[in-house]
Amino acid sequence: MAKTVLVTGGAGFIGSHTVLQLLFGGYNAVVVDNLNNSSDIAIRRVKELAGEFGNNLYFQQMDLRDKPALQKLFAERKIDAVIHFAGLKAVGESMKKPLLYYNNNLIGAITLLEVMATHGCKNLVFSSSATVYGWPKEVPCTEEFPVAAINPYGRTKPFIEQICRDLQHSDQEWKIILLRYFNPVGAHPSGYIGEDPRGTPNNLMPYMQQVAVGRRPALTVFGNDYSTKDGTGVRDYIHVVDLAEGHIAALQKLSDPKIGCEVYNLGTGKGASVLEIIAAFEKASGKKIPLVMAGRRPGDGEIVYASTEKAERELNWKAKYNIEDMCRDQWNWANKNPNGYQSPEN
Ligand code: NAD
Ligand code: UFG
Repeated sequence: MAKTVLVTGGAGFIGSHTVLQLLFGGYNAVVVDNLNNSSDIAIRRVKELAGEFGNNLYFQQMDLRDKPALQKLFAERKIDAVIHFAGLKAVGESMKKPLLYYNNNLIGAITLLEVMATHGCKNLVFSSSATVYGWPKEVPCTEEFPVAAINPYGRTKPFIEQICRDLQHSDQEWKIILLRYFNPVGAHPSGYIGEDPRGTPNNLMPYMQQVAVGRRPALTVFGNDYSTKDGTGVRDYIHVVDLAEGHIAALQKLSDPKIGCEVYNLGTGKGASVLEIIAAFEKASGKKIPLVMAGRRPGDGEIVYASTEKAERELNWKAKYNIEDMCRDQWNWANKNPNGYQSPEN
């Protein structure tokens, strides 16, 4: 019998790519999303990309905090495991509206866990983030580094991680994997699904993509006086398809009887600077990106990249795509969908 996986936030950037990989992997996918930061067009496109497997996708627009609706969904569908992506994720907005973030992310997670417990579904993969490390004193970041999140969004991640640990400690039937992603970028190689943030993008790649298609005049480089190879910030960019595969590996790991509540970094283990990413994107797109050199973005850190040893060893997973692949697929998505999911069909 094919396993059924509930994917919360499955219309979003990482969720939509993961749902596609689940379908290709022979799973049934049940997606809930309130479409707060996404479009149901993503769901339709995932269905189409999945071909015959598309019939194994069921979508319901729902806020995760709507407990009766979630109870009903669990009663109607036999859900074997949950991948929990749904959450708000804009760092700056979280500093202005902390209660919005704590309410959405914490109440959402708690409601989900309560409903899962009621229905005896105790297998969970949760989207945590490298943000839990804050700005580490050394790199690569291993999973043992202390938690040092520095903004309300970031703090929701260690809070939820701890709730998961406490829950698993209280009832060993729970199997929980906490995945700490580094910087997800790129898009599905088809160019049919990708990241389509509402409003002004906060992150480097989606902002640069909008400059490349003429939606914004220039990219601001935040700081060129860091003690890095070229003075700009260094991050661990990871292709979203690699990340999606990491979730399949984590799901499989849940059937390991030794798993309790385990945390894994998902990154490439390599750092790239802002200027290196810009150069790779210019090469992939054939577009010159106009730049404005500016001061450091408040709250930004210098250099972050992952130790990937634990995920490689225990999940048998390793990122395959490099920066060139990420920029090629980012551009392919941008070029085919200059206005994201609002672009005319191609
Ligand atoms: P996204 O905004 O594209 O996807 C999140 C989805 O959750 C959206 O479709 C949104 O509509 C939905 N959602 C939010 N609150 C909801 C609620 N209460 N009920 C139902 N649906 C809700 O973001 P993403 O980049 O795909 O991120 C997915 C997860 O990964 C998030 O938890 C995020 O914090 C985490 N993460 C993302 C990054 C990143 O840089 N993209 C890095 C580390 C961790
Ligand atoms: N940057 C620019 N110009 C921009 C945007 C970003 O120069 O317009 C620079 C930043 O200063 C940084 C690098 O590009 O040096 C990457 O910045 P992003 O905003 O793309 O990513 P961050 O590493 O700052 O943060 C992201 C997510 C966080 C998450 C963190 C770790 O936004 O939520 O990765 O996972 F916590």
